[in-house]
Amino acid sequence: MTSHHAILPAMSISRRDLLIGAASTPLIAPLKKLAKLGDSADLTRVILFTDAHIPTPKADDRAQYHQQKRARQAFKVASSYNPDFWIFGGDNIMAVDQGQGEELAMEQFNNWEMLVSEEVHQPHASVIGNHDIWYPKGATPDDRKALAKKAFQMPNRYHKVEFGGWSFFMLDVFHPGAATEVDEEQWAWLDAELGKTNQPACVVTHSPIIGPCIQIEGGGIGGTVKLRKIFLKHDNVRLALSGHQHHVDYAEYDRVTYICGGAVSAGWWGGNYSHFPPAFVVLDLSRDGYISNRTVYWETPLGEHGVVGGEGYPVALRPTSAFDI
Ligand SMILES: [Fe+2]
Repeated sequence: MTSHHAILPAMSISRRDLLIGAASTPLIAPLKKLAKLGDSADLTRVILFTDAHIPTPKADDRAQYHQQKRARQAFKVASSYNPDFWIFGGDNIMAVDQGQGEELAMEQFNNWEMLVSEEVHQPHASVIGNHDIWYPKGATPDDRKALAKKAFQMPNRYHKVEFGGWSFFMLDVFHPGAATEVDEEQWAWLDAELGKTNQPACVVTHSPIIGPCIQIEGGGIGGTVKLRKIFLKHDNVRLALSGHQHHVDYAEYDRVTYICGGAVSAGWWGGNYSHFPPAFVVLDLSRDGYISNRTVYWETPLGEHGVVGGEGYPVALRPTSAFDI
């Protein structure tokens, strides 16, 4: 645990370079180079790419926003950070929960599959967002999540993925006609699976468990007291990632860092959402449970908050637990 050095906040790239870069090419600022990490070979770079809300490639009521071209660009900018692994936080497609018929639903899911196959060249895992659950007008599908599971290449509505020495628990928290929370079946599975591994664990939920944005706008999932308990019981849980809010935040509570990753689409491609420009998050994770995170406002040379170079200030590589509880 002593071989890692903190990510340095100083960025050598000049404002002029940034502006020139922004005008012509994606913002490319590989974090690994800036980071000067002592043991970079041990780090796994993860992109949290959530709430992309990508519609069909055809013209639709939002065609004026050029989402297809911009979505491709978002994948390309994220790829420029040389990820090892991608996490899709749900609401990957525009929406199929508002009466969309089969044709329009399939166009969106097929488009997502095409974009991922063409633009994502590393392993990836996804959760299901509320807008990925199919509610066609006048029909009741047997499994409203079936289209999402297939298009997002999910083995089950919730599942575990091991990558880079970490276990990622991809949870399913939106349920037709029921509360937004981890259901009984998943509790049993999560508790049992967490008990089987000593690897650092990351829990991914579409809607956040804990975070400042919930205080501002609501939207968190239920069962947070129970989740806190289970995270305290299994002390390898160190990271919780989410989307849904289209806000960017992070919080440390107990041993866990909670990050809400904004939205690739910000306000569904129509501009900022609650001041937040289009964003994704770059994380570096070490096998011994250290993490660092940085928000990338991928389409914004100078963000609303004076964010330089489209990047939030890096949060240093750090142990995920400052003290033992
Ligand atoms: Fe969303």
